[in-house]
Amino acid sequence: MPPNHNPAPPVDLADEPRQFALLVNSVTDYAIYMLDANGYVRTWNPGGIRIKGYQPEQVIGTHFSRFYTDEEAGAGVPLRNLQTAAAEGRFSAEGWRVRQDGTRFLASVVIDPIWNGSELIGFAKITRDITERFESEQRLQAAQVALMESQKLEAIGLLTLGLAHDFNNLLTVVVNSLDVIGGRTQDPRITRLLETAMRASDRGVLLTRQLLTFGRGQVLIAEALDLNALIVANRELLGRAATDLMQLTLDLAPALPMVEIDRSQFEAAILNLVSNSRDAMAHGGHIRLSTSLKRAHLPAEAPQQERLFVCTEVADNGCGIATEHQARVFEPFFTTKDVGRGSGLGLSQVFGFASQSGGFTELHSLPDGGTTVSIYLPVCENP
Ligand SMILES: Nc1ncnc2c1ncn2[C@@H]1O[C@H](COP(=O)(O)OP(=O)(O)O)[C@@H](O)[C@H]1O
Ligand SMILES: [Mg+2]
Repeated sequence: MPPNHNPAPPVDLADEPRQFALLVNSVTDYAIYMLDANGYVRTWNPGGIRIKGYQPEQVIGTHFSRFYTDEEAGAGVPLRNLQTAAAEGRFSAEGWRVRQDGTRFLASVVIDPIWNGSELIGFAKITRDITERFESEQRLQAAQVALMESQKLEAIGLLTLGLAHDFNNLLTVVVNSLDVIGGRTQDPRITRLLETAMRASDRGVLLTRQLLTFGRGQVLIAEALDLNALIVANRELLGRAATDLMQLTLDLAPALPMVEIDRSQFEAAILNLVSNSRDAMAHGGHIRLSTSLKRAHLPAEAPQQERLFVCTEVADNGCGIATEHQARVFEPFFTTKDVGRGSGLGLSQVFGFASQSGGFTELHSLPDGGTTVSIYLPVCENP
């Protein structure tokens, strides 16, 4: 017994043209159509309607160069592609094409010439929309880069932390010994030498403290704080750091929730950012310090794990950061400034402080187009 369902009207298997038309007209994932030898559209299928947006009556009889971007059409690319297909037996490529509504999509295109004996009578053209695939590849690549970036900083952080701890212990021995020697000598020459050694040790202590911050080994004293109030309280200090050449604007979102962070680390971080902006604008410019409430997820977490952060942003219209430097600026000791002007520890402090506080940093910079550094700090769970 044959299965009991409603059969479609039988198709005459000998009727090849009809079968072919049925096939082409049931395909919606591919635009399959024919061009005449000069590139005018002769047939159109549902895939063409879906991908390019034209109904058959809008497109049949018109030239296929309308699917190309203006730049490519102007440069004669459509006709060149037909010539390649005719000369080499096939043309295939990926490129940006234009839909009826003007939006662009990434197309995978194949053009085959159709010959009648030695006469070229037209072309068969198959177009597939691969924008989705392209975009998901882009997203995957961006996520991989972000992950590598955070793993690299994580590794440098661990190394730095170990070094800073050991170095700190050595410095403690040096400082204690200097203290003891100082108590046992009256010789002014030795006292002078001791003072020099003490100053150098103090600088060493400061340096290890900065390294500990980057390696997230700093002891943070967290308290619930209103960042807007803290920024306003630091306004004068920030203004002095920015110098008279800069215009410093505060743009603070009202009624922000509290964040639980170390006050002096936050103050150091915004001072570091404002100082960097100042250094990036030798002839003056505009520094904008803003706060806002944002939904975001930690770089190492899935996008679904979004929560609320207070975002503090310092933006300038300075020289920007070269693309090849952008991945390195958060590393400790990375600086492009002259010896004595830059320590390379500013952004690593910002990075270490943000991550140790349960947040993260973001950098947007265009060479010659200015720089924005954002510090995301998680909103207090129990205000
Ligand atoms: N706002 C900015 N504009 C342009 N470049 C910047 C900016 N902030 C940081 N940079 C770049 O990042 C590098 C590292 O910054 P940082 O860690 O603060 O160290 P330093 O300021 O001591 O060089 C700087 O030397 C500079 O090249
Ligand atoms: Mg700096």
